[in-house]
Amino acid sequence: PAIAAVIPAAGVGQRMQADKPKQYLRLHGKTVLEHSVQPLLSLESVGQLYLALSADDPYFAATGLTDPRIIRVEGGAERVHSVLNALQHIDAVRYPWVLVHDAARPLVRRADIQLLIERCLAAGHGGILATPVRDTMKRGQQQVQHTVDRTDLWHALTPQFFPTALLTAAIGGALAAGVAVTDEASAMEWAQQSVLLVEGHSDNLKITRPADLQLAAFYLEQNR
Ligand code: C5P
Repeated sequence: PAIAAVIPAAGVGQRMQADKPKQYLRLHGKTVLEHSVQPLLSLESVGQLYLALSADDPYFAATGLTDPRIIRVEGGAERVHSVLNALQHIDAVRYPWVLVHDAARPLVRRADIQLLIERCLAAGHGGILATPVRDTMKRGQQQVQHTVDRTDLWHALTPQFFPTALLTAAIGGALAAGVAVTDEASAMEWAQQSVLLVEGHSDNLKITRPADLQLAAFYLEQNR
């Protein structure tokens, strides 16, 4: 089927303490955003890519992103609002499936996106890239209350891949119900839809703190 992509890229990235939002910081000769978008645009099945940018974004025009499939839309107050606004622009009949991918994840592998798409289409429902938790997990504030069983615990990554109409309805419904929607899957879970876990790679990190950019540069230098 034809696939649309949504990239929320309207965040300010406060935790980076940089002079511009993290998606516009440079990594190996181009912006983080260009790295994040490229593997999606490399897929022929991706016919449109909706980029949610803040209304007064002064940086996008200077990037090398000129692919005609890119459609610029306005971002919202939080990630979920940026995603929902983009979803509402998509013609779900022409594009029945949508990939949502963070602008701040520049290292996603093309093969992992393809695997996610294949597994979900075979299952007939949506899913996410994720990695198993390997650390021992604790719950607590100042002190440990208890150890959380890490069996069956996963880190949720992006892309996340869902039927367009179901995802749009689920996010709208979850927001109206006051549910915290920190990724697309959380809205689908609220809507009682199945979400497949597809194992990705932990180098698909989200640039959050300054050291993440150095780590990303290191990974890019490796033959992954
Ligand atoms: O800040 P965080 O790492 O959670 O942001 C994840 C993604 O959501 C980033 O790509 C960021 O640009 C995007 N975002 C957005 N609109 C917001 C906040 C974040 O598109 N209001």
